[in-house]
Amino acid sequence: METGGKPRKNPTLICAPIMGDSIDKMVVDIAKAKASSADLVEIRLDSLKSFNPHEDLKILIKECPLPILFTYRPMWEGGQYNGDEEERLDVLRLAMELGADYIDVEFKVAHEFLKSIQGKKPEKLKVIVSSHNYQNTPSVEELGNLVARIQSTGADIVKIATTALEITDVARIFQITVHTQIPIIGLVMGDRGLISRILCGKFGGYLTFGTLEGGLKSAPGQPTIEDLLNLYNFRQLGPDTKVYGIIGKPVGHSKSPLLYNEAFKSAGFNGVYVHLLVDDLAKFLHTFSSTDFAGFSCTIPHKEAAVQCCDEVDPVAKSIGAVNCIIRRPSDGKLFGYNTDYVGAISAIEDGLQARSNTSSSAGSPLAGKLFVVIGAGGAGKALAYGAKQKGARVVIANRTFERAKELADIIGGDALSLADLAHYHPEEGMILANTTSIGMQPKIDETPVPKDILKHYSLVFDAVYTPKITRLLREAEESGATIVSGLEMFIGQAYEQFERFTGLPAPKEQFQKTMSNEELPVEVTGFVVGSADDKPAHKGSGAQESDEDESTGSVAMPEIDCDELELTEAGKFAGA
Ligand SMILES: NC(=O)c1ccc[n+]([C@@H]2O[C@H](COP(=O)([O-])OP(=O)(O)OC[C@H]3O[C@@H](n4cnc5c(N)ncnc54)[C@H](OP(=O)(O)O)[C@@H]3O)[C@@H](O)[C@H]2O)c1
Repeated sequence: METGGKPRKNPTLICAPIMGDSIDKMVVDIAKAKASSADLVEIRLDSLKSFNPHEDLKILIKECPLPILFTYRPMWEGGQYNGDEEERLDVLRLAMELGADYIDVEFKVAHEFLKSIQGKKPEKLKVIVSSHNYQNTPSVEELGNLVARIQSTGADIVKIATTALEITDVARIFQITVHTQIPIIGLVMGDRGLISRILCGKFGGYLTFGTLEGGLKSAPGQPTIEDLLNLYNFRQLGPDTKVYGIIGKPVGHSKSPLLYNEAFKSAGFNGVYVHLLVDDLAKFLHTFSSTDFAGFSCTIPHKEAAVQCCDEVDPVAKSIGAVNCIIRRPSDGKLFGYNTDYVGAISAIEDGLQARSNTSSSAGSPLAGKLFVVIGAGGAGKALAYGAKQKGARVVIANRTFERAKELADIIGGDALSLADLAHYHPEEGMILANTTSIGMQPKIDETPVPKDILKHYSLVFDAVYTPKITRLLREAEESGATIVSGLEMFIGQAYEQFERFTGLPAPKEQFQKTMSNEELPVEVTGFVVGSADDKPAHKGSGAQESDEDESTGSVAMPEIDCDELELTEAGKFAGA
């Protein structure tokens, strides 16, 4: 359900694709769409198993409390209809006569179709002329020409759906939607196109699709209506909304959008935070180079490359060799890199050790003099190794690629091991172990970086992985008597600092804790630093709706976004309008 009741900051509509195989199922889904605050529904007639046009169209129009868009997608455009073409177009004409608000006609047949309804088109009907490209996203020039050709058919609304091979493809669609003068739907299909479906509210799209249900039922790259409204605060996106995001690959598991969007909302900050599935960091930063894209968190595998991509890097991040927070300076667009990773993790480990030995922080860092074994030599590994060294620990790095372990150990002044050697490594008792690899992360939750039998030599085990909250490593460490510290504590700690850098406002710490403790993950703990075996944590328990894509607003003044691709030409922009 939509919350808030604030006035909308953009006119972009949310459309629920209805793809039931029977009229009854469609009627049920239409009611769900209404209840979830969709603005309109798209009835995909080609998904029906049996269809009696005269009777069924009347029922659908009568039963639908929302504006209704009819689409009867043929196989040759990616749909399921495989019958006679004239009969298909007759159905769309009938829908028009019976009172449809919108009909969708494929560009290839639009010219003839629009000619056939000339003089008969009801005033309220809007014809969407659509083009789907399931292979790629063409250049801005080609897209501009396509828009012009679609417009010349007499379309009320232009719809272009392309396919993202890289996230940078989406910038070209934004450039088109911002500049096009008639209502336009511009969406980019696939996981890498997700931001096209969210940020179209900022960049002038007529409509976006939101599915009724998430999880397995939604198509890759399609958010649910609930996510659009409640996670991304879609109604509040405007031309001046700043965009932030988590850059990674993979990145879909990240809880950062949840955490930051909730915090932006509670602080009244005009920003949105999205998942950014990035293949090439330098290209991404260069393509989305306007100050609208104001700041980024950085995760696997880009933290080290981020050091090279920033104009200036904070000395701590430079010594760690990894950047996990990038800020774009509003005055000149310059990029500044920071590392906030180690702060939260190290202090949570210190808290865990103090709780275990019943000491207080006034006695100095409990890490001083301890043997601190870091598994992994990537961004998080470097941060933990650096942080532990700063606190006076003796650091050992174990990594799959031994050379990287050696390189890091040499930089910080420690020893290096291979992962195989780590399985037999126990020079002393009471060591600290920190896993900073993704081993054990969802979906591979049965994996663990070390055999259980060596865990008895450690007094504290930390895991940077936080999905699930309690990994197999932490579970086995706890069973072996170690104090365990969850990656969630690191996650929240690094996020406080990033929030303050993004917004210039103090981090709403209670909001962060609340958001993460409400989050449903496979295994949940109430405290983030969880105790030793004696001090057990309180466990709380531990029909694809792929529409192809869609719609209608007057032109809205939108900010320019920079794009390293071709510029849209004046001719390309308006020809045929
Ligand atoms: N809790 C938090 O707030 C937080 C913050 C940052 C990171 N993390 C988590 O920490 C993990 C690492 O992130 P990162 O940014 O450091 O990534 P990264 O820079 O890509 O480094 C990954 C490290 O993991 C090792 N590795 C990856 N897959 C492995 C496998 N199958 N077997 C053995 N070693 C493997 C790599 O070894 P090679 O050198 O041999 O490739 C490398 O040392 C991720 O799970 C991330 O979600 C959590």
